[in-house]
Amino acid sequence: MMQTSFTNRFQCLVYLLFFIFLTSCEESGFKSEKIFNGNQVVSVQTLNLGRQVYMEYCMSCHGMTGEGNGPAAKGSVPPPRNFTQGLYKFGLVKDGGLPTDEDFKRIIQHGLNGTGMLKWDISDQQTYAVTQFIKTFAPQVWENKEIKVGEKISLMNDPFGLARKSFAIERGKEVYHIVANCQSCHRAYVTQDELNSLSMKINQTPASEFDPTMYDLKIQESEYYLYQYKDRKIKILPPDFTWNTMKSASDEKGVAERLCAGVTGSGMPAWCGVVSDEDVWALSYYVNSLVDYKNDFKSREELMKKLVAPTKVGSK
Ligand code: HEC
Ligand code: HEC
Repeated sequence: MMQTSFTNRFQCLVYLLFFIFLTSCEESGFKSEKIFNGNQVVSVQTLNLGRQVYMEYCMSCHGMTGEGNGPAAKGSVPPPRNFTQGLYKFGLVKDGGLPTDEDFKRIIQHGLNGTGMLKWDISDQQTYAVTQFIKTFAPQVWENKEIKVGEKISLMNDPFGLARKSFAIERGKEVYHIVANCQSCHRAYVTQDELNSLSMKINQTPASEFDPTMYDLKIQESEYYLYQYKDRKIKILPPDFTWNTMKSASDEKGVAERLCAGVTGSGMPAWCGVVSDEDVWALSYYVNSLVDYKNDFKSREELMKKLVAPTKVGSK
């Protein structure tokens, strides 16, 4: 008899301690719901789940305080996003607006190719929760009623398709080098002679002069900063499509949507509204044709041999 009652009391104590432990864990969590832009009400339970997911999967890079300074962030190029800034690159929204939850879901579940940001195999519920938790790092943006969540881009469906693929690539080459001048940041992929004839075709004049840096990638100052240096913006090198990996897209549709929306805060403009939707698609076909060189080292080498930069004298 004595024995049992002692065990009971002991068990009771264990339960009590466990209860205190649990409630003290709750203590440091969220105590009230949050209301984010667009009157999105997020429950305490979701915020706490989001925090748990974050601590398990994301904290190592993005940091305890969301500043992109986790223990695994050291030396990472590009550095993990500093979430306290409330600025994001890869939404598919108009005018560099805030990403939608759908955008976050795509970014988190598909990852950003070629960066430390892998695709995370977490459930939709966990993804939703961690997305809401990330927003709590930037209340100046997400709890600011003046700022609206971005409006989804609208881009026409593919007007080319497989049947007109080579036509699309040719048109894309013209838009890339003559109409949009993408080589002002990225690089050119045609010879000076080709550039001249493309210019004749589009503008009825030869290219007036050649930029000696036409085959160089031009580093861009971005809007992003590392947590400790607000005054020092992160510099970003635009990709060479025949060599580097595109982060957010890998097929005609994905790249067309990315071109339409741009890469917010990186210097990479949004092209919808600047060129026609049809030309956005043509550019995408052309960029993807350049990506094909990545699987064909020999052709790439041959192409690069042909592309000799003009000297300063020859450019006059
Ligand atoms: C191994 C490091 C690493 C881990 C772990 C990691 N990330 Fe990232 N994350 C990055 C890097 C690097 C970038 C920046 C890529 C860039 O700027 O191009 C990034 C960017 C982001 C962005 C910004 C996307 C944009 O459009 O600007 C979001 C959102 C994000 N991560 C969410 C998460 C979530 C959620 C988790 C956990 C489930 C996570 N990350 C785990 C490295 C990491
Ligand atoms: C003012 C400079 C600038 C101009 C002009 C520019 N880009 Fe970019 N672009 C960038 C930068 C910088 C990046 C890298 C962004 C990053 O990874 O953070 C980029 C990235 C890209 C990407 C990759 C997106 C991804 O998911 O990784 C594509 C595709 C692209 N640019 C296509 C184009 C095309 C096509 C044009 C012309 C119509 C163009 N860019 C004009 C600066 C520019």
